[in-house]
Amino acid sequence: GGATAAARAHSNIALVKYWGKRDATLNTPAVGSISVTLDALYTDTRVTFRSDLTDDELWLDGCRSDATRVRRVLDLVRGYAASAGHPAGGQHAVVSSTNNFPTGAGLASSASGFAALVVAATGAAGLALPARELSILARHGSGSAARSIFGGFAEMHAGTASDGSDSYAEELQGRSAWPLAVAVAITERGEKSINSTIGMVESAATSPFYPAWLDSADGDLAEMRAAIAARDFTRLGELTEYNCLKLHALMLSTRPALIYWNAATVAAMHAVRELRSGGVPAYFTIDAGPQVKVLCLPGDAEVVRQALAAVPGVHEVRMSTLGPGAYRLE
Ligand code: DP6
Repeated sequence: GGATAAARAHSNIALVKYWGKRDATLNTPAVGSISVTLDALYTDTRVTFRSDLTDDELWLDGCRSDATRVRRVLDLVRGYAASAGHPAGGQHAVVSSTNNFPTGAGLASSASGFAALVVAATGAAGLALPARELSILARHGSGSAARSIFGGFAEMHAGTASDGSDSYAEELQGRSAWPLAVAVAITERGEKSINSTIGMVESAATSPFYPAWLDSADGDLAEMRAAIAARDFTRLGELTEYNCLKLHALMLSTRPALIYWNAATVAAMHAVRELRSGGVPAYFTIDAGPQVKVLCLPGDAEVVRQALAAVPGVHEVRMSTLGPGAYRLE
């Protein structure tokens, strides 16, 4: 036995990207970001605090995994629990996590994973923290996870406080306010990309474009906020693609270069631009990996899916609508 709770959190993709850290220890971002949470991809996590454990244990899809980052988040949760007089404050935990998508398919799982961890761990420790605190805890696991606490459209604030207390995400608009569709074209299974944590530190240290990336972030965020508030899909899509390509220019100008694209990634980008020439509003975005995520209106989802499935090198296309914030299971 032991204090236990389970939670589900959905993955998200950034329309205005996070790349670069303000403080590596607190894991505060150097720039804000705006994302959409995805309904089709999620992580379920159970956390059980037990008095008989000598260390934290992490099981990912049934395999024992490195618990370093998970321990960092659990230590903070234990701090809260100890102040509240809950026994979890002095106990280690077993964390078991499953993704509803195949691991190693190149679909990011750290965002949904750390958001689910935080909701499950605080639940198991008897804590009812405000969403803002949950977002800060998730940020310590992975910056993008701070956004997966929320559904629909979420904005992560870079913040300025030296203790990280103003670096959190919040919901801009719920998912039902503006239904959109997202197609994820899988161009490579079992990708071995350079991990974002390392990549963004290298970009900051070596790319001559990094200062321009930082300087232009607030303008993109303001424009994206306005596009979402006005439900202007053309503006949202053009800005999403622009910000993605600007990020990849930063990545490409890092030494050694961060080239996350393969041939099918580039072919899918062109396919999306051809869809647009044919009158279908669809816009791509790409993260630190070769998969291509395409935003479109729900009525165009099927034509977008077919166009991506026909691209040579695209193995699979997963369709999604916008998803909810993280929540307790049971
Ligand atoms: C390209 O959140 O994975 O997906 O905070 O070091 O864990 P850490 O980084 P992570 O970086 C995400 C980078 C990105 C853009 C984004 O999601 O905003």
